[in-house]
Amino acid sequence: MRVVSGIKPTGNLHLGNYLGAVKQWVAMQDEVQAAGGETMYFIADLHGLTEFIPPAELTANTLEMTATLVAAGIDPSRSILFNQARVPAHSELAWLLNNVARVGWLNRMTQFKDKAGKNREGASVGLYDYPVLMAADVLLYNATHVPVGEDQKQHLELARDIATKFNTDYETELFTLPEPLVSGAAPRIMSLRDAGSKMSKSNPSAQSVVKLVDSDETIADKFRKAKTDPDLLPDSWDALEGRAEAKNLLTIYAALADRKPAEVLAEFAGKGFGQFKPALADLAVATLGPIRNEMLRLMADRAAIDAILRDGAARARDLAAPLLSRAQAAMGLVL
Ligand code: TYM
Repeated sequence: MRVVSGIKPTGNLHLGNYLGAVKQWVAMQDEVQAAGGETMYFIADLHGLTEFIPPAELTANTLEMTATLVAAGIDPSRSILFNQARVPAHSELAWLLNNVARVGWLNRMTQFKDKAGKNREGASVGLYDYPVLMAADVLLYNATHVPVGEDQKQHLELARDIATKFNTDYETELFTLPEPLVSGAAPRIMSLRDAGSKMSKSNPSAQSVVKLVDSDETIADKFRKAKTDPDLLPDSWDALEGRAEAKNLLTIYAALADRKPAEVLAEFAGKGFGQFKPALADLAVATLGPIRNEMLRLMADRAAIDAILRDGAARARDLAAPLLSRAQAAMGLVL
């Protein structure tokens, strides 16, 4: 088993990333290693370039994201933790795979359509090609499992299509088909202001997204002001039909508490949000506050963070080299 996953440094970690992906990364570190497997996590700084970020901000975000991942429980002595740009094989394999992926496949990617919006002509070529680099990220290491939130599932299905076509066209069994693991407790956390859209860094309302750098007061305030409805909480999940905000907050509570949503609902059945929201705010502060404090402590030593990334990249380069060579050879490149 080889687990590989990444996160873009386009801002700091938010609750959606944490509950949808990173919490699962931390848990897998123990499970996978107990079974003799390997876990690799990276900061997708090359993907960060697909939408313009001022360079100094990208650098700062990459370091801060590394510190946050370590603070959240990714242990660089047990997992390979690195930034994508330091392992050129990602870009090299992406170019090879560009010639396998089809334009029609990329045209179906919903993330590109959402991000480019009406301004398709003005989107970067990188934004369009983004899923091919993502395929390279996982195929390069023969990843067997890729833990992600729901929004990345389509990209991983594309990675499987690319791997299958490469293996067929070049008559090889080089690439392993990666399995997307969308099995975290909260694969799709929604905005706190509008449960119709997912929690994301690009949401225009700062109140809608809880960041792991937020102070205790800010975290509590965002939950207290989260949009809800005037009804009491019912005692069954089915009775929440049509109450998307309530479902979202209960999902967040359950994921933070490592409990089943039905169990949390049973505890709060018959109570209103006036009681539930303060309890959720307290739980979030108690869970996220220590991660933020540890992240701030780590950020004080930039050289140590850089050393983690350098060491991780050296290990990743060693793992990547043989597969890249085999892909080049399979395609007939003279090297
Ligand atoms: P990114 O940086 O947008 O998000 C990182 C992870 O967080 C998950 N996520 C969410 N989960 C639940 N609810 C939400 N509201 C929410 N928002 C984000 C994402 O699904 C993701 O798992 N393309 C990837 C980064 C990447 C990657 C890879 C991932 C690059 N190469 C290879 C896996 C394998 C991305 O933009 O994630």
